[in-house]
Amino acid sequence: MSPVEDPEVRIIRLEEADSTNEYAKRIAQEVPEGTVVVASKQTAGRGRRGRSWASPEGGLWMSVILKPGKTDPRLVFVGAMAVVDVLDEFGIRAGIKWPNDVWAGGKKIAGILTEGRAGEYVVLGVGLNVNNPLPEGLWGSATSMLYLVGRKIPLEKVLGRLIFHLNAWYRVYRLRPDLLMVKVRERTFILGKSVEVFEDDSSFVGRAVDVLDDGSLLLDVGGELRRVVSGEVSLRPL
Ligand code: ATP
Ligand code: BTN
Repeated sequence: MSPVEDPEVRIIRLEEADSTNEYAKRIAQEVPEGTVVVASKQTAGRGRRGRSWASPEGGLWMSVILKPGKTDPRLVFVGAMAVVDVLDEFGIRAGIKWPNDVWAGGKKIAGILTEGRAGEYVVLGVGLNVNNPLPEGLWGSATSMLYLVGRKIPLEKVLGRLIFHLNAWYRVYRLRPDLLMVKVRERTFILGKSVEVFEDDSSFVGRAVDVLDDGSLLLDVGGELRRVVSGEVSLRPL
């Protein structure tokens, strides 16, 4: 399928992609920073650790190519904060489930997936449930803007606002990453709460205490402080 390109804002629009992250990685070295890839649907949308991401028509499935000069686990928060701000504009109060999920109304509404090649590029992928149907298996754990607002949401407007906020938070990240982390802390709804932490083949329960400036999460595990890094764990709020 030949992409429709907009030279001004460098948005590559696709009817269908395997995964916008995969597409973006394939072109990352040839295009300028800020190039956006958006697909009406994905046939192989992915979450972390290769988990599948349901991406039928009606949702916002996009990736932006960044060239910050290094990979950094905090880049995921640029995406999470941008989604939180977009949702605010539509009257939806959302929070971050550290590190890469955005939740609203007690369920997951969006996920962020950052992937990169050290020193060359970072692809920041955002999947946001807008008007798309959710597979039955996710009804207990996922939600959408349509469901929360009660009416169809203009997808193009959501994309425009998301790009705006991604730009703004990326600028904050580059100039004052500490300020990005202040906002992340404000919006991380698990702080002070008990969570189950899943590592490769074990799990433990702790109380989330803080998100540190390097993006890691500090937990109180039976009175002892323990720091976990985003690439290595998954959390479940209890
Ligand atoms: P964590 O992010 O803490 O690792 P997670 O369970 O949210 O845990 P991810 O890999 O981040 O896992 O996200 C992928 C998961 O998201 C899938 O396993 C599936 O349960 C869920 N999921 C898939 N598609 C959607 C969607 N469109 N909306 C919400 N959730 C989805
Ligand atoms: C997660 O919650 O684990 C992250 C989900 C990320 C989904 C988005 S949709 C656009 C981009 N393309 C993908 O295949 N994944 C991300």
